[in-house]
Amino acid sequence: MAMTAYGDLCTQFYDLDKPQAPELALEWYSQRLQGAGRVLEPMCGSGRFLVPLVSRGLLVDGVDPSEPMLRACRAKAASARIAVVSPWGTWDPSSAEDWPDGNYPQPPRIRLWQQALEHLDLAGPAPVPASPDAVPPAREAVEPYGAAFIPSSSFCLLDNAAAHQGLRRLRAHLAARALLLIEFEVPHGPDHWPGGNSRTVTAGSRQIRLVSRVEYNAGVQVETHYNQYELKESGRVVQTENEVLRLRSYAPDEMRLLLAGAGFTEIEVEHPEFGWVVIANAG
Ligand SMILES: C[S@@+](CC[C@H](N)C(=O)[O-])C[C@H]1O[C@@H](n2cnc3c(N)ncnc32)[C@H](O)[C@@H]1O
Repeated sequence: MAMTAYGDLCTQFYDLDKPQAPELALEWYSQRLQGAGRVLEPMCGSGRFLVPLVSRGLLVDGVDPSEPMLRACRAKAASARIAVVSPWGTWDPSSAEDWPDGNYPQPPRIRLWQQALEHLDLAGPAPVPASPDAVPPAREAVEPYGAAFIPSSSFCLLDNAAAHQGLRRLRAHLAARALLLIEFEVPHGPDHWPGGNSRTVTAGSRQIRLVSRVEYNAGVQVETHYNQYELKESGRVVQTENEVLRLRSYAPDEMRLLLAGAGFTEIEVEHPEFGWVVIANAG
């Protein structure tokens, strides 16, 4: 997938601007996911939810297409003394330097995949056939998950086609009656957006400035953010990055229909203090 968003500067800005998951939301997900068994967080980003949930004893794996976000997630896991392993059980060599003595902590651990939700396919690499004429052995499928969750309204980043396809792909990786929790944005009134804004975050002599122009198309309920990041070191511009983010908002009934269309059942919408969440069962 060609990423036009969630690149290197965006990831650095995001981690300085929003280093921790909102406490209320983290607590809510933590309680809902207790006892669910193995949990998947697609669109996990830099692990703001993933890492603290694993620290609390949950077994959570993460998926995200952005290499810089996954790199930041590995670093966050390392500072929490949580091992990141490759999906197929071997230690991720990129995290080895975090434990130079080779004494990797045993669980907790996180498995990370680099994939887009709409192409989710958590099976192992194709085994090599015994001979050129032999039927290739099947890829090893990952065990079905007992729950999945997508916080922070990240799901709204998917366009309509990717949202449909992503839910189908996600359901294919869930156990019967698995729990699904998806946070989403509801449509805004016309004067919700000022049209743009700018913010600067600072880390030592480094400054990252984000300038955003925001357009909202009420007809299709899509808000488009044209973002420009500028990194300054000791006052000199050393890196810039542009990105376009589109956020599709949903009325609660639209969300119910979307999930039902992908085969989910027992669909309910809740509005806890931190946002809107749809809760469903994989059927
Ligand atoms: C706003 S971040 C949120 C990450 C995390 N949930 C949090 O609260 O910090 C959204 C994430 O969605 C990921 N993303 C964007 N498009 C995606 C797609 N098609 N499939 C899966 N993840 C995607 C981005 O790479 C990014 O890491």
